[in-house]
Amino acid sequence: MQATAQAQPNIALVKYWGKRDQSRNLPAVPSLSITLDTLWTQTRVAFEPGLEADRFSLNGNAEPAHLARVSATLDRLRELAGCGHSAVVESVNNFPTNAGLASSASGFAALVTAGCAALGLEFGPGQRSRLARLASGSAARSIFGGFVEMPLDPHNDDLAMSLLEAAAWPLQVVVAVTSRAEKPTGSRAGMLQSAASADFYPAWVETTPRDFQQARAAVLGRDFSRLSEISEHSCLKMHAVMLSARPGLVYWNSATVDCLHRIRELRRRGNAVFFTVDAGPQIKAVCLPEHRDHTARALAEIPGVLEVISSGLGAGAQLLPAIP
Ligand code: DP6
Repeated sequence: MQATAQAQPNIALVKYWGKRDQSRNLPAVPSLSITLDTLWTQTRVAFEPGLEADRFSLNGNAEPAHLARVSATLDRLRELAGCGHSAVVESVNNFPTNAGLASSASGFAALVTAGCAALGLEFGPGQRSRLARLASGSAARSIFGGFVEMPLDPHNDDLAMSLLEAAAWPLQVVVAVTSRAEKPTGSRAGMLQSAASADFYPAWVETTPRDFQQARAAVLGRDFSRLSEISEHSCLKMHAVMLSARPGLVYWNSATVDCLHRIRELRRRGNAVFFTVDAGPQIKAVCLPEHRDHTARALAEIPGVLEVISSGLGAGAQLLPAIP
Protein backbone atom coordinates (compact mmCIF):
# COMPACT_ATOMS: atom_id res chain seq x y z
CA MET A 1 0.00 0.00 0.00
CA GLN A 2 2.80 2.40 -0.81
CA ALA A 3 4.23 4.04 -3.91
CA THR A 4 6.59 6.86 -4.90
CA ALA A 5 6.10 9.21 -7.84
CA GLN A 6 7.93 12.13 -9.40
CA ALA A 7 6.39 15.10 -11.17
CA GLN A 8 7.86 18.28 -12.61
CA PRO A 9 6.47 21.80 -12.33
CA ASN A 10 4.95 23.34 -15.41
CA ILE A 11 5.11 26.93 -16.58
CA ALA A 12 1.95 28.38 -18.11
CA LEU A 13 2.37 30.30 -21.37
CA VAL A 14 -1.34 31.12 -21.37
CA LYS A 15 -2.17 31.57 -17.71
CA TYR A 16 -4.87 30.07 -15.54
CA TRP A 17 -6.11 32.75 -13.15
CA GLY A 18 -9.64 32.57 -11.74
CA LYS A 19 -12.26 29.86 -11.22
CA ARG A 20 -15.70 29.36 -12.76
CA ASP A 21 -16.66 26.88 -10.05
CA GLN A 22 -14.85 27.03 -6.74
CA SER A 23 -16.23 23.81 -5.24
CA ARG A 24 -15.08 21.71 -8.23
CA ASN A 25 -12.00 23.92 -8.76
CA LEU A 26 -12.90 24.52 -12.41
CA PRO A 27 -10.79 27.22 -14.10
CA ALA A 28 -12.44 30.34 -15.54
CA VAL A 29 -10.08 30.32 -18.54
CA PRO A 30 -8.28 27.74 -20.68
CA SER A 31 -4.51 27.47 -20.20
CA LEU A 32 -1.44 26.15 -21.99
CA SER A 33 1.86 25.14 -20.38
CA ILE A 34 5.25 23.50 -20.74
CA THR A 35 6.42 20.85 -18.28
CA LEU A 36 10.03 21.17 -17.07
CA ASP A 37 12.60 18.43 -16.46
CA THR A 38 15.31 19.70 -14.07
CA LEU A 39 13.04 20.73 -11.19
CA TRP A 40 11.03 18.01 -9.51
CA THR A 41 8.91 16.87 -6.59
CA GLN A 42 9.25 13.28 -5.41
CA THR A 43 6.48 12.01 -3.15
CA ARG A 44 6.10 8.75 -1.27
CA VAL A 45 2.62 7.78 -0.09
CA ALA A 46 2.16 4.88 2.35
CA PHE A 47 -1.30 3.93 3.65
CA GLU A 48 -0.88 2.35 7.06
CA PRO A 49 -3.53 0.39 8.96
CA GLY A 50 -3.73 1.71 12.51
CA LEU A 51 -2.35 5.17 11.75
CA GLU A 52 -4.64 7.72 13.43
CA ALA A 53 -4.37 10.60 10.96
CA ASP A 54 -2.59 11.56 7.76
CA ARG A 55 0.93 12.93 8.14
CA PHE A 56 2.67 15.18 5.63
CA SER A 57 6.28 16.28 5.50
CA LEU A 58 8.11 18.39 2.92
CA ASN A 59 11.89 18.19 2.68
CA GLY A 60 11.89 16.34 6.01
CA ASN A 61 9.82 18.92 7.94
CA ALA A 62 6.24 18.38 9.12
CA GLU A 63 3.97 20.78 7.20
CA PRO A 64 0.70 21.18 9.11
CA ALA A 65 -0.29 24.20 6.97
CA HIS A 66 -0.49 22.03 3.85
CA LEU A 67 -1.97 18.94 5.50
CA ALA A 68 -5.66 19.82 4.92
CA ARG A 69 -5.22 20.04 1.13
CA VAL A 70 -3.15 16.85 1.05
CA SER A 71 -5.75 14.99 3.14
CA ALA A 72 -8.64 16.26 0.99
CA THR A 73 -6.88 14.80 -2.07
CA LEU A 74 -6.23 11.50 -0.29
CA ASP A 75 -9.90 11.39 0.79
CA ARG A 76 -11.00 11.40 -2.87
CA LEU A 77 -8.64 8.53 -3.64
CA ARG A 78 -9.65 6.59 -0.50
CA GLU A 79 -13.31 6.92 -1.49
CA LEU A 80 -12.62 5.61 -5.00
CA ALA A 81 -10.62 2.67 -3.62
CA GLY A 82 -12.90 1.97 -0.65
CA CYS A 83 -9.97 2.34 1.73
CA GLY A 84 -10.17 3.81 5.23
CA HIS A 85 -6.47 3.95 6.17
CA SER A 86 -4.58 7.13 6.92
CA ALA A 87 -1.33 7.75 5.11
CA VAL A 88 2.20 9.00 5.63
CA VAL A 89 3.13 11.38 2.79
CA GLU A 90 6.78 12.38 2.39
CA SER A 91 7.62 14.91 -0.28
CA VAL A 92 10.93 16.31 -1.43
CA ASN A 93 11.29 19.37 -3.69
CA ASN A 94 14.63 20.20 -5.29
CA PHE A 95 13.59 23.88 -5.71
CA PRO A 96 12.12 26.71 -3.54
CA THR A 97 8.57 25.93 -2.38
CA ASN A 98 5.60 28.35 -2.59
CA ALA A 99 7.67 31.06 -4.22
CA GLY A 100 5.98 31.11 -7.62
CA LEU A 101 7.79 28.08 -9.03
CA ALA A 102 4.67 25.95 -9.37
CA SER A 103 5.40 23.66 -6.43
CA SER A 104 1.70 22.93 -5.98
CA ALA A 105 1.55 21.71 -9.60
CA SER A 106 4.35 19.17 -9.26
CA GLY A 107 3.36 18.41 -5.66
CA PHE A 108 -0.24 17.42 -6.32
CA ALA A 109 0.56 15.66 -9.62
CA ALA A 110 3.10 13.50 -7.74
CA LEU A 111 0.70 12.97 -4.81
CA VAL A 112 -2.17 11.78 -7.03
CA THR A 113 0.11 9.54 -9.09
CA ALA A 114 1.71 7.91 -6.03
CA GLY A 115 -1.59 7.78 -4.10
CA CYS A 116 -3.46 6.02 -6.94
CA ALA A 117 -0.69 3.43 -7.31
CA ALA A 118 -0.52 2.83 -3.56
CA LEU A 119 -4.25 2.09 -3.53
CA GLY A 120 -4.16 -0.08 -6.65
CA LEU A 121 -6.23 2.44 -8.66
CA GLU A 122 -5.04 1.83 -12.21
CA PHE A 123 -5.98 5.22 -13.61
CA GLY A 124 -4.74 6.61 -16.92
CA PRO A 125 -3.36 10.14 -17.19
CA GLY A 126 -6.78 11.67 -17.98
CA GLN A 127 -8.35 10.42 -14.75
CA ARG A 128 -5.28 11.39 -12.73
CA SER A 129 -5.29 14.84 -14.35
CA ARG A 130 -8.91 15.36 -13.26
CA LEU A 131 -8.08 14.28 -9.70
CA ALA A 132 -5.01 16.53 -9.67
CA ARG A 133 -7.13 19.46 -10.94
CA LEU A 134 -9.46 19.10 -7.98
CA ALA A 135 -6.42 19.60 -5.74
CA SER A 136 -4.79 22.40 -7.75
CA GLY A 137 -5.71 23.60 -11.24
CA SER A 138 -2.14 23.80 -12.52
CA ALA A 139 -1.38 20.29 -11.17
CA ALA A 140 -3.71 18.84 -13.81
CA ARG A 141 -1.14 19.93 -16.43
CA SER A 142 1.90 18.38 -14.66
CA ILE A 143 0.46 14.90 -15.24
CA PHE A 144 1.63 15.36 -18.86
CA GLY A 145 5.03 16.20 -20.34
CA GLY A 146 6.05 18.66 -23.07
CA PHE A 147 3.40 21.14 -24.23
CA VAL A 148 0.10 20.69 -22.41
CA GLU A 149 -3.30 22.27 -22.96
CA MET A 150 -6.21 22.57 -20.59
CA PRO A 151 -9.25 23.67 -22.58
CA LEU A 152 -12.53 24.45 -20.86
CA ASP A 153 -15.06 21.67 -21.26
CA PRO A 154 -18.54 23.10 -20.67
CA HIS A 155 -20.14 19.61 -20.68
CA ASN A 156 -17.72 17.92 -18.33
CA ASP A 157 -15.08 18.60 -15.70
CA ASP A 158 -11.93 19.98 -17.30
CA LEU A 159 -8.79 17.97 -17.61
CA ALA A 160 -5.44 18.67 -19.22
CA MET A 161 -4.09 16.85 -22.26
CA SER A 162 -0.91 16.61 -24.26
CA LEU A 163 -0.60 19.12 -27.10
CA LEU A 164 2.92 18.37 -28.37
CA GLU A 165 5.67 16.07 -27.11
CA ALA A 166 8.75 17.74 -25.59
CA ALA A 167 11.06 16.23 -28.23
CA ALA A 168 8.98 17.76 -31.05
CA TRP A 169 10.04 21.31 -30.05
CA PRO A 170 12.72 21.16 -27.35
CA LEU A 171 12.55 24.68 -25.93
CA GLN A 172 14.65 25.63 -22.92
CA VAL A 173 13.65 27.54 -19.79
CA VAL A 174 15.99 29.68 -17.69
CA VAL A 175 14.55 30.41 -14.25
CA ALA A 176 15.96 33.46 -12.45
CA VAL A 177 15.27 33.07 -8.73
CA THR A 178 14.96 36.54 -7.17
CA SER A 179 13.62 35.52 -3.74
CA ARG A 180 13.44 32.31 -1.70
CA ALA A 181 10.74 33.65 0.63
CA GLU A 182 7.23 32.22 0.59
CA LYS A 183 4.91 34.56 -1.28
CA PRO A 184 2.56 36.58 0.95
CA THR A 185 -0.60 35.72 -1.04
CA GLY A 186 -0.92 32.23 -2.51
CA SER A 187 -2.39 31.69 -5.99
CA ARG A 188 -5.71 30.43 -4.68
CA ALA A 189 -6.34 33.43 -2.43
CA GLY A 190 -4.96 35.78 -5.09
CA MET A 191 -7.31 34.54 -7.77
CA LEU A 192 -10.34 34.74 -5.51
CA GLN A 193 -9.38 38.29 -4.57
CA SER A 194 -8.94 39.16 -8.27
CA ALA A 195 -12.31 37.69 -9.28
CA ALA A 196 -14.06 39.50 -6.43
CA SER A 197 -12.48 42.92 -6.82
CA ALA A 198 -10.33 43.42 -9.95
CA ASP A 199 -11.82 45.81 -12.50
CA PHE A 200 -9.90 44.05 -15.28
CA TYR A 201 -11.07 40.52 -14.40
CA PRO A 202 -14.08 40.39 -16.79
CA ALA A 203 -11.86 41.39 -19.72
CA TRP A 204 -9.37 38.69 -18.70
CA VAL A 205 -12.05 35.98 -18.78
CA GLU A 206 -13.41 37.26 -22.07
CA THR A 207 -10.11 37.51 -23.98
CA THR A 208 -8.08 34.52 -22.71
CA PRO A 209 -9.86 31.92 -24.92
CA ARG A 210 -8.62 33.88 -27.95
CA ASP A 211 -5.03 33.95 -26.56
CA PHE A 212 -5.29 30.21 -25.90
CA GLN A 213 -6.33 29.41 -29.50
CA GLN A 214 -3.55 31.61 -30.89
CA ALA A 215 -0.91 30.08 -28.59
CA ARG A 216 -2.07 26.58 -29.50
CA ALA A 217 -1.65 27.37 -33.20
CA ALA A 218 1.79 28.91 -32.55
CA VAL A 219 2.94 25.76 -30.70
CA LEU A 220 1.63 23.41 -33.39
CA GLY A 221 3.29 25.62 -36.05
CA ARG A 222 6.57 25.90 -34.00
CA ASP A 223 6.25 29.69 -34.42
CA PHE A 224 8.52 31.04 -31.68
CA SER A 225 8.02 34.73 -32.34
CA ARG A 226 4.23 34.38 -32.33
CA LEU A 227 4.37 32.31 -29.13
CA SER A 228 6.61 34.99 -27.53
CA GLU A 229 4.11 37.71 -28.33
CA ILE A 230 1.07 35.81 -27.00
CA SER A 231 2.80 34.44 -23.87
CA GLU A 232 4.18 37.80 -22.75
CA HIS A 233 0.76 39.29 -23.40
CA SER A 234 -1.00 36.62 -21.29
CA CYS A 235 1.53 37.07 -18.47
CA LEU A 236 1.33 40.87 -18.42
CA LYS A 237 -2.47 40.78 -18.69
CA MET A 238 -2.70 38.42 -15.70
CA HIS A 239 -0.46 40.76 -13.68
CA ALA A 240 -2.62 43.72 -14.76
CA VAL A 241 -5.62 41.87 -13.31
CA MET A 242 -3.68 41.23 -10.08
CA LEU A 243 -2.64 44.89 -9.88
CA SER A 244 -6.24 46.00 -10.40
CA ALA A 245 -7.52 43.91 -7.45
CA ARG A 246 -8.32 45.66 -4.15
CA PRO A 247 -5.90 45.67 -2.49
CA GLY A 248 -3.66 45.30 -5.52
CA LEU A 249 -1.47 42.18 -5.69
CA VAL A 250 2.14 43.05 -6.51
CA TYR A 251 4.12 39.82 -6.90
CA TRP A 252 7.20 41.40 -8.54
CA ASN A 253 10.31 42.83 -6.94
CA SER A 254 12.80 45.16 -8.58
CA ALA A 255 14.95 42.28 -9.88
CA THR A 256 11.86 40.79 -11.55
CA VAL A 257 11.35 44.03 -13.46
CA ASP A 258 15.05 44.31 -14.36
CA CYS A 259 14.99 40.74 -15.72
CA LEU A 260 11.93 41.49 -17.78
CA HIS A 261 13.62 44.49 -19.43
CA ARG A 262 16.83 42.53 -19.98
CA ILE A 263 14.95 39.71 -21.73
CA ARG A 264 13.30 42.19 -24.09
CA GLU A 265 16.69 43.72 -24.80
CA LEU A 266 18.11 40.26 -25.55
CA ARG A 267 15.27 39.73 -27.99
CA ARG A 268 15.90 43.06 -29.70
CA ARG A 269 19.48 41.89 -30.19
CA GLY A 270 18.36 38.76 -32.02
CA ASN A 271 17.98 36.16 -29.24
CA ALA A 272 14.87 33.99 -29.45
CA VAL A 273 13.71 34.43 -25.85
CA PHE A 274 10.60 35.64 -24.01
CA PHE A 275 9.64 36.01 -20.36
CA THR A 276 6.85 34.79 -18.17
CA VAL A 277 6.15 35.39 -14.46
CA ASP A 278 3.63 33.61 -12.22
CA ALA A 279 2.24 34.51 -8.80
CA GLY A 280 5.67 35.23 -7.37
CA PRO A 281 8.84 37.21 -8.13
CA GLN A 282 10.73 34.61 -10.19
CA ILE A 283 11.30 35.19 -13.89
CA LYS A 284 11.15 32.35 -16.38
CA ALA A 285 12.87 32.99 -19.71
CA VAL A 286 11.72 30.60 -22.44
CA CYS A 287 14.17 30.31 -25.33
CA LEU A 288 15.46 28.29 -28.23
CA PRO A 289 18.30 25.94 -27.13
CA GLU A 290 21.02 27.95 -28.92
CA HIS A 291 20.16 31.06 -26.88
CA ARG A 292 20.00 29.42 -23.47
CA ASP A 293 23.54 29.95 -22.21
CA HIS A 294 23.68 33.59 -23.23
CA THR A 295 20.29 34.20 -21.58
CA ALA A 296 21.40 32.45 -18.37
CA ARG A 297 24.61 34.53 -18.19
CA ALA A 298 22.72 37.78 -18.83
CA LEU A 299 20.16 37.08 -16.09
CA ALA A 300 22.80 35.91 -13.58
CA GLU A 301 24.49 39.34 -13.84
CA ILE A 302 21.39 41.24 -12.70
CA PRO A 303 21.59 42.49 -9.09
CA GLY A 304 19.04 40.64 -6.96
CA VAL A 305 19.15 37.44 -9.00
CA LEU A 306 20.12 34.79 -6.43
CA GLU A 307 20.35 31.79 -8.68
CA VAL A 308 19.74 30.80 -12.27
CA ILE A 309 18.39 27.34 -13.08
CA SER A 310 18.19 25.99 -16.63
CA SER A 311 15.78 23.29 -17.65
CA GLY A 312 14.62 21.56 -20.76
CA LEU A 313 11.13 20.24 -21.26
CA GLY A 314 10.35 17.02 -19.45
CA ALA A 315 7.98 14.14 -19.07
CA GLY A 316 4.72 13.88 -17.16
CA ALA A 317 4.27 12.46 -13.67
CA GLN A 318 5.74 8.97 -13.29
CA LEU A 319 6.09 6.25 -10.67
CA LEU A 320 9.56 5.76 -9.18
CA PRO A 321 11.05 2.73 -7.47
CA ALA A 322 11.57 4.76 -4.22
CA ILE A 323 12.91 8.11 -2.98
CA PRO A 324 16.68 7.89 -3.53
C1 DP6 B 1 -0.19 31.95 -11.71
O1 DP6 B 1 -2.93 25.95 -9.75
O2 DP6 B 1 -1.81 27.12 -7.81
O3 DP6 B 1 0.66 29.74 -11.68
O4 DP6 B 1 -6.13 25.73 -8.53
O5 DP6 B 1 -6.17 27.32 -6.64
O6 DP6 B 1 -4.48 25.49 -6.66
P1 DP6 B 1 -5.30 26.45 -7.48
O7 DP6 B 1 -4.28 27.43 -8.22
P2 DP6 B 1 -2.86 27.14 -8.87
O8 DP6 B 1 -2.70 28.45 -9.76
C2 DP6 B 1 -1.68 28.65 -10.69
C3 DP6 B 1 -1.67 30.05 -11.14
C4 DP6 B 1 -0.48 30.47 -11.99
C5 DP6 B 1 -0.80 30.37 -13.48
C6 DP6 B 1 -0.80 28.98 -14.07
O9 DP6 B 1 -0.03 28.11 -13.62
O10 DP6 B 1 -1.54 28.78 -15.04
